[in-house]
Amino acid sequence: MQKRVFLHTTVLALTAFFGANSVAQDNKFKIGLILPMTGQQATTGRQIEAAARLYMAQNGDSVAGKKIELIVKDDTSIPDVTKRLAQELVVNDKVNVLAGFGITPSALATAPIATQSKTPEVVMAAATSSITQASPYIVRTSFTLPQAAVGMADWAPKNGIKKVVTLVSDYGPGLDAEKYFKDRFLFNGGQVPESLRVPMRNPDFAPFLQKVRDLKPDALFVFVPSGAGAAVMKQFLERGMDKAGIRLIGTGDVTDDDQLNDMGDGALGVVTSHHYSAAHPSPVNKKFVEAFEKANKGLRPNFMAVGGYDGMRVIYEALKATKGQGGGDALLAAMKGQIFESPRGPMFIDAQTRDVVQNIYLRKVEKQNGQLYNVEFDVIKDVKDPGKNK
Ligand code: DHB
Repeated sequence: MQKRVFLHTTVLALTAFFGANSVAQDNKFKIGLILPMTGQQATTGRQIEAAARLYMAQNGDSVAGKKIELIVKDDTSIPDVTKRLAQELVVNDKVNVLAGFGITPSALATAPIATQSKTPEVVMAAATSSITQASPYIVRTSFTLPQAAVGMADWAPKNGIKKVVTLVSDYGPGLDAEKYFKDRFLFNGGQVPESLRVPMRNPDFAPFLQKVRDLKPDALFVFVPSGAGAAVMKQFLERGMDKAGIRLIGTGDVTDDDQLNDMGDGALGVVTSHHYSAAHPSPVNKKFVEAFEKANKGLRPNFMAVGGYDGMRVIYEALKATKGQGGGDALLAAMKGQIFESPRGPMFIDAQTRDVVQNIYLRKVEKQNGQLYNVEFDVIKDVKDPGKNK
């Protein structure tokens, strides 16, 4: 009899223990943020983590009765590592949302895990058009290369640029940039005598630039991922391409705000098309840039940071809308159709495609207060990803 009472008490105690534990668990809302924190794409990770932490500092870590926990993992931009980390975050940590994804292969590697576990995957950086089609649980807050490249293909021929050689990183976003720039530029009457592709890992631009010099186009159109722009600029100038009358154009990845100010005056006048510039002249952006720089020893936010900041907003708002009670499907539904003013300008998560609809700006590198910035001079409003009309 006594033994029985003892056993009974133990069971009660255990139930109380696990019960309490699961309540604590229920009060948490976990975001698994997978980023390249080391390696070639480390600046992307640094920018997005800083932006996510800024969003939390400004908006609190308590939403709809839940305590937000950010779990940051370094995937070193190796997609197999991304996939393993995503699996561990879902199975062991029981995260409510997966987020981050510095490069396209990492976002794609995670897609099956998002689908199987019904976990929303918020893509804050990767920008190949097809990513959102890899899982119905993917929502994107960055941009797409077709979105950015088409703006440049419309601007260039109206500004004396008729013959262009393209040079892109040889993987998803580069191939998108090349295709969407070229198709539209040819449609607009331009010529593309050569399309060059450089390896994504450890690229050597020198032999490609030599070839471009020999071809003497009006301009070289470039896509390289964030972090590689300064190397392109340096070699472009060292080879005297600008002096040979060849202009540098591209999507804004090449004049990345993370590196732009260190590129030197040779970058002045470079025109690019993109969704975000740290110089975007809105009160919302001024406040964002100031707070970001203050929290990060003067580091200027780039387009990766804004993707991370807005991604956090989309997650917070979905949690609020579902009153903290929703699982993956409810959260996903609450992410679709969100519309708000981002530091980049107005932005909208298209409910059909789960992709971002936003303004694309034409910008020219100029000096403002002694620093190099991408200064916006024209805008194409509310651009949907042209890649979705295939
Ligand atoms: C991707 C990565 C980048 O750094 C960038 O600027 C654009 C796209 C990508 O891998 O999708």
